[in-house]
Amino acid sequence: MREKQQILIADDEPNLRRVLGAQLQRDGYDVLLAEDGQQALSMLSEHHVDVLISDLRMPRIDGMQLLKRVVEDDPELPVILITAHGTVDTAVEALKLGAFDYVTKPFDRHEFKNVVDKAARAAELRQREVDVEGRGLIGQSHVMREIHAVVNKVADTPSTVLITGESGTGKELIARALHETSSRRDKPFIRVNCAAIPRDLIESELFGYEKGAFTGAVTSKPGRFELAHGGTLFLDEIGEIPVNMQVKLLRAIQEQEFERVGGIKTIAVDVRLVTATNRELLEEIREQRFREDLYYRLNVVQIRLPPLRERKGDIPLLVEHFLRRFRERLNKRQVVGVTDSAMDVLAAHMWPGNIRELENVIERATLFCDTDLIDVPDLPPDLRAASQSSPGVQESASAASLSFGEPTAVNELAPETEPLLGLKEKVREAAARIERDLIVRALEQTAGNVTHAARLLKISRKSLQTKMKELGLRDAKDEF
Ligand SMILES: Nc1ncnc2c1ncn2[C@@H]1O[C@H](COP(=O)(O)OP(=O)(O)OP(=O)(O)O)[C@@H](O)[C@H]1O
Ligand SMILES: [Mg+2]
Repeated sequence: MREKQQILIADDEPNLRRVLGAQLQRDGYDVLLAEDGQQALSMLSEHHVDVLISDLRMPRIDGMQLLKRVVEDDPELPVILITAHGTVDTAVEALKLGAFDYVTKPFDRHEFKNVVDKAARAAELRQREVDVEGRGLIGQSHVMREIHAVVNKVADTPSTVLITGESGTGKELIARALHETSSRRDKPFIRVNCAAIPRDLIESELFGYEKGAFTGAVTSKPGRFELAHGGTLFLDEIGEIPVNMQVKLLRAIQEQEFERVGGIKTIAVDVRLVTATNRELLEEIREQRFREDLYYRLNVVQIRLPPLRERKGDIPLLVEHFLRRFRERLNKRQVVGVTDSAMDVLAAHMWPGNIRELENVIERATLFCDTDLIDVPDLPPDLRAASQSSPGVQESASAASLSFGEPTAVNELAPETEPLLGLKEKVREAAARIERDLIVRALEQTAGNVTHAARLLKISRKSLQTKMKELGLRDAKDEF
């Protein structure tokens, strides 16, 4: 990952470019400079840019045109426009078009830094979402962020990683993410489910065999260790591996060499080993079913995946993720979200099958849903029943008394629901923020003169006053 974020400044005024560039560098950013919109566009296509700062008036392609192009190509890139004093109209237009924010000339150093830092944070958040979603690993809860950080950190090291967690918590997904994030990503990822292979076949499965090694070995065959050469070997359910195999496994890991069954030639491999288990290996060691020395060899880095019930904050994100997937796959594109009441039921469930169970529930609900929003009746009956009887989940007395009967009744009482994927809410929020911002700035520019500010904003004095009241902004006159 990059250490510094990169900011592109497009301005035709060489002095301003230099001053702003120097300031941003002092603030810890990498800086690229373009002398007009045209050059900015070509730099955007060649470099990774986190934030774009652009002047409005420039030759060839001006700031507004540049903004339009950026919004089309890369709508999430934060764009900050530099506007000359008092051009509120242009600023409004720019914000409507999708600019992140604007700064007015002449600059206030602090204001400028604030705006840039805010944009940089937005860019960082977005980058993190891209990184994580690119690997299909959803989760913004504290533990999941830590896990993402560990994955990023250890992916490119040769250390063995032991992934532990209940069934369905995403152990295999993490193993794949480790591989995909490492420089071994173009080499094989080989998974062996140790629980699925008969005990006496594990050795030949892992290490291969030579012709004639046992009855039926009519040709020689490479094992999974050899197939994984250069890449990653993922031993899933490692707790199931028979004790007598554990010594050979330990040596193969330690020395990166072994012999095929019935073979005498030593084979050397370069394999990164990742293992997973839902058993308590320390318990297995106490019971003498697992060798302690192997455990320590496997446990160089341990990633513990928490059960879903311990990170319920991730449920909405996961729901959204699976919903996106299944509405496509099941060709149910009219389904755009989940009602609040259905979300309450999902949040109340304990999820013994963890993410896999949630995934299945969303698939089923998407299939059952006949409207645009998944609702309580689309959820499996046991989930609905459980959420109704579990104490502390239903808050109102009327809902609690509905411990039997039609769950839909609860839902019909529910207030208006918002689609989860709906942009409406986001847009409304952004619009409110921009509006408040514009009003504050107009008032600043007019030294608090409401009449003048209203004129600047092209709204009536009365509606500005109403807005100000709504926003809790004081009319300067009130003080007298
Ligand atoms: N963080 C996550 N984001 C999105 N999907 C996830 C996440 N974690 C798990 N899943 C999905 O949940 C399902 C179960 O995950 P996975 O097979 O990796 O679990 P597991 O821990 O290996 O389970 P088991 O112990 O039963 O083998 C998979 O379909 C996986 O894609
Ligand atoms: Mg698994």
